[in-house]
Amino acid sequence: MVNELYHKLKSFFLKSKMEAKIDGDFNSAEEIHLSSTDFYEENDLVYFKNLNAYGAFKYPIVKQLFNSENESIGVSNVALEINDIYFSKNEDIHKMNKKAAILHLTFLSSKLHYLNNDYTHFLFNKFLTNLPTKKEINLVDFLVNPLVLINILKEYDLLDTIFQDLNPENDSFSFDYAINKIKEYFEDTSKLESVIKKFLEQGGIIPAKMIDFLNDLETENPIEIAQLPNFFKSIIFVAVETTSSFLSNFIFTIFQKYPEFLLNKDVEKLHQLSNELLRINPPVPFIFRTVWEDTVFNDVHLKKGDQLILFVGSANMDPNYFDEPDLIKFNRNNKHLSFGGGAYTCIGRFASFRMALNIFDYLAPLSNNFSFLEKKPRFYFQNAILKIPLNIKYYDSFEGN
Ligand code: HEM
Repeated sequence: MVNELYHKLKSFFLKSKMEAKIDGDFNSAEEIHLSSTDFYEENDLVYFKNLNAYGAFKYPIVKQLFNSENESIGVSNVALEINDIYFSKNEDIHKMNKKAAILHLTFLSSKLHYLNNDYTHFLFNKFLTNLPTKKEINLVDFLVNPLVLINILKEYDLLDTIFQDLNPENDSFSFDYAINKIKEYFEDTSKLESVIKKFLEQGGIIPAKMIDFLNDLETENPIEIAQLPNFFKSIIFVAVETTSSFLSNFIFTIFQKYPEFLLNKDVEKLHQLSNELLRINPPVPFIFRTVWEDTVFNDVHLKKGDQLILFVGSANMDPNYFDEPDLIKFNRNNKHLSFGGGAYTCIGRFASFRMALNIFDYLAPLSNNFSFLEKKPRFYFQNAILKIPLNIKYYDSFEGN
């Protein structure tokens, strides 16, 4: 039994390629196992005594926690620390804030389609024509991250104001500078925050779209200007890091595993494939919730202040709900939990799939120009987000493969 638990945890951590660091107390799956009092097989919640935290691993339990009607379990204090303007402990208020976000932030998938959006078309052409040829590059740094970040900054109206140096429509735009800057932001998102802070300190004007969004948010206290850099960073972060993780996996898998898809586009199949990739390698492999009042959940007595860790990566691999969970299958009945669920569920799932289709449409005709230098995907973990590098050589004629 102990071995089984160990193998399940280990396989979870390996699967999600997480180096088993929940808060620095654990360095390996073994340590997590040793500090856990209960067994995954027998209990809905596994207690990590060093953390005052309970882990939920099974698919139905993680789902139940997402959709919990129990008012004592709610948004995590981690989310509140990161963004206490947008997130609220009160789910009704949060629902209103979510409506405001959908109204002001989410670019609708139809608008994002390059056929309806000259900007996306312009952006792809700009970056594809500037890709360095015949040398080893990481496609994530040179294409995926810039596309995602610039697209989102544009849609959030931040490109003409705070991030003018990344605006490819400016005459002074430098490709090399932008690539390096964007790489820095992805390696350390606090740098995004510093740029926003500096902009506001120098009397920069907040874009109208963001003012409308802020005006529609319900917060307990008036919004202070000092809170804004963190707020902006946080909404940029949730959209870009996750999407870039997903898109990298999507590109890798199609090019390496399903090259036949490149010749014959089938949107339904691409959608199913995307969902399988999100299931097997969720960009956010675990999500926190906080216990705000003493309560009982599935016979477990939880104390105010306890943390719940919802191991989405594990739930998505639950063999009782996903037959042969390691395999990509195109006809699954159960839905993965990689976008979360309930009151705090992600608002960007359609936008991210739309971006995947755009990337597909631009890269498919160039499939012979790319040579992937690594045949197996390599994952690593940063900022609670799963990453995958795409080391390639790019040729401007068909000599890649
Ligand atoms: C494949 C790409 C993406 C993944 C895997 C992803 C995943 C997630 C997850 C796991 C959460 C937390 C849910 C929870 O706590 O229950 C979340 C929240 C959120 N995501 Fe995404 N996300 C993606 C793309 C996007 C995009 C493109 C946007 C913006 C347009 C976005 C905006 C948000 C927002 C605003 C929230 C907070 C939702 C709320 O509580 O109201 N995400 N996302």
